[in-house]
Amino acid sequence: MSIVNADLAHLSPKDPDWWRQSVVYQIYPRSFADANGDGLGDLRGIISRVPYLQSLGIDAVWLSPFYPSPLADGGYDVADYRDVDPRIGTLEEFDELVAALHLAGIRLVVDIVPNHSSDQHPWFQQALAAGRGSAERDRYIFREGLGADGELPPSDWVAAFGGPRWTRVDDGQWYLGSFTKEQADFNWNNPDVREDFLTTLRFWADRGVDGFRVDVAHFLVKDLPDELPSWEEIWKLDLNSGTHPLQDRDEVHEVYRQWRQVLNEYDPPRSAVAETFVTPDRRAKYASPDGLGQAFNFDLLMADFDATQFRQVISTNLDLVASSGSSSTWVLSNHDVTRHPTRYGLPPLDGRDVKQGVEWIQAGAPADGIDLDLGSRRARAATMLMLALPGSAYLYQGEELGLHEVGDIPAEHRQDPAFFRGGKNDGLGRDGSRVPLPWTTTGASFGFGEAIAHIPQPTWFSGVSVEAEEADPASSLALYRDALRLRRELHTEEKLEWLDDLSGDTVLAFARPGGWVNVTNFGAEPVALPDAEVLLTSSPLQDGLLSGAATAWLRA
Ligand code: NOJ
Repeated sequence: MSIVNADLAHLSPKDPDWWRQSVVYQIYPRSFADANGDGLGDLRGIISRVPYLQSLGIDAVWLSPFYPSPLADGGYDVADYRDVDPRIGTLEEFDELVAALHLAGIRLVVDIVPNHSSDQHPWFQQALAAGRGSAERDRYIFREGLGADGELPPSDWVAAFGGPRWTRVDDGQWYLGSFTKEQADFNWNNPDVREDFLTTLRFWADRGVDGFRVDVAHFLVKDLPDELPSWEEIWKLDLNSGTHPLQDRDEVHEVYRQWRQVLNEYDPPRSAVAETFVTPDRRAKYASPDGLGQAFNFDLLMADFDATQFRQVISTNLDLVASSGSSSTWVLSNHDVTRHPTRYGLPPLDGRDVKQGVEWIQAGAPADGIDLDLGSRRARAATMLMLALPGSAYLYQGEELGLHEVGDIPAEHRQDPAFFRGGKNDGLGRDGSRVPLPWTTTGASFGFGEAIAHIPQPTWFSGVSVEAEEADPASSLALYRDALRLRRELHTEEKLEWLDDLSGDTVLAFARPGGWVNVTNFGAEPVALPDAEVLLTSSPLQDGLLSGAATAWLRA
């Protein structure tokens, strides 16, 4: 496969609004394609797969961290914000990747991780060396401990992936690490930190990057009182006040206003999307035009496969973006959660944390409590519905193959700090969605590379490889390609009209301008479709009826 001359009209290089309704495909670089045969994905591997990305019909790639990193958290522990991890590639290869993607009509969004750096970052090492009270230490959040000799942590706070949030250094002080002890939180009240991230934004924007995905965007600014509340007390504080000591403080928007000015120095302005876990009304601030411009909503990802929940999530988010001037973001899978075909094969979440579903997974064969086939059919239906919504859609690598979560990774091959600290996904962690992609039906790592992949792949990956699915017109890959091609043809204004005559407890129907109609059957029984041209269905029609757990796109 080679790059087909891009449809430059579609790319519209100067379009400032390109992100509003884009399909963005997330690449977790260490698990996408391994060109140098060391078992770890790399930039050359991605470059070699640009024709594949182009054949999918996506608009942009979001590249998860590829920076030098000790990999204490899959690269979200950055040791140098302005370089490429030598195991992944070089800056020259990064430039080649940008050029290859642009030639293929695909934009590039990179991940930026501003809440914390790796403890191996030179600034953190300098902070350790310079000692208490120094300017170097002020770039992070250091405190004296409690107890007679400061031998107790400043508070009993728990890190996001389990374990204590404070770590003691040799001279007795403690530093804050909201996720792991290898990820030290920056002090965003320090001007060096603010300035350095502006330099980083310019560094990548100058290299042709089109946008940024901002990791835990609501965490950056903190204000810790002298007497720290207990962990129990922290959770009683109002998360929506804008004055919470640890997150979503109003001052964080000063940071993003400054970022926006830098992003607007470029033509077209660079886009940015905030990863936030805040209430919907507070999300709008991150998405405002003088802020980052767009914010993730994970509401669809947290919902069960249920018509009422989907409708409520969609309506709320469309109302919200109407008020912020942004466009909505839709996500069903990413590198942090159980893949959506697996989630949808589990008993309903009923509001439980989406990650808890992993406890049920027994990869390879339906196990008690999970129906893999039902999960797959629902996933295809939900994906088509998502792709029919106004706004941008974020896809996660491998979902186009309909991959299920890999549940049975032996402990010695797991990498996620959450697995070792018991802090996420009921202790299983997130490796099950980060297993390297299968490209071919055979080979040491199913075409991922020449070597055994850095997280072991299950034998069933052969049947869901790109090679296997390209030979099957009914495959998930074929469906994604058809859906993305049609979406590009059909999507127009960012509007949606509910078709109440066709909707019900288990059916959701809506129309987009120009006569594009989406009908999703969330129930088990087939339903009749209106008299219109059927463009695509997620499962074959049954005697002309839309089967259970299926979506149809029609032209009205
Ligand atoms: C959110 C990222 O998506 C996740 O993978 C990471 O572990 C945390 N932020 C910490 O950076």
